[in-house]
Amino acid sequence: MIIASNFKTNHTRKATREFVEFINNFLKDTNDKHQIRVYPSFTALDVFDTVTAMKVGAQNFYPVDKGSFTGEVGYEQLEEFGVDSVLVGHSERRHILGERQEILLKKFHFAKEKNLEIIYCIGEPQEVREAGIEAVMNYLWEQLEGIDLAYERLVVAYEPVWAIGTGLTASLEDIQETHARLRERVEAPILYGGSVKVENIYEVLSVKNCDGVLVGTASWEKESFCKMIELAQTLKA
Ligand code: 13P
Repeated sequence: MIIASNFKTNHTRKATREFVEFINNFLKDTNDKHQIRVYPSFTALDVFDTVTAMKVGAQNFYPVDKGSFTGEVGYEQLEEFGVDSVLVGHSERRHILGERQEILLKKFHFAKEKNLEIIYCIGEPQEVREAGIEAVMNYLWEQLEGIDLAYERLVVAYEPVWAIGTGLTASLEDIQETHARLRERVEAPILYGGSVKVENIYEVLSVKNCDGVLVGTASWEKESFCKMIELAQTLKA
């Protein structure tokens, strides 16, 4: 399982360091069987000394080694901090920052060339969900078009847009059905994201074909994230 925390635009350098140290100490003391990921903001990236199961990654990057792209961060800047895992296609980048499939494909292929772990996020808006599962799947397959599903460091995160940051979690039936349909073509681990919290993580992780979670809001408090890891540890294999 992969248990990941997306900080989005939260936490200072100091708070990030405290968070990473807190989780790392917890993992040192337990025999954790899961992969833990933390995606802080760029300003808080650093070389963190963590247990092997934990990686601190990047929420974004521009698909170049370096160059003239004001305000962007290239691979050379990620490499400096040993970043080995990146998010691509998060719904906030698609819908708020206006990233289209073309740039997302560039990012995917660039990260693949660098052999990075890629958490590639997909998810449908509310009106598509309301139109039913076939509409949802058409939408998701379009978002996966051009992605090399055989890439061995690919992780897919299914995050319905309407469930992100809203407190609304998709029903377990919807998660199960969507993951099962994705599984027809996706061999990579499939994570669920969208209002996952301490109260529902166990049920979400118990869904068939759910290989982990990508958590925003509820993971920003280190104690809660730790609790979620703890609950994941109690899952039957
Ligand atoms: P929330 O957990 O706040 O709904 O965010 C989910 C998400 O976008 C993780 O990437």
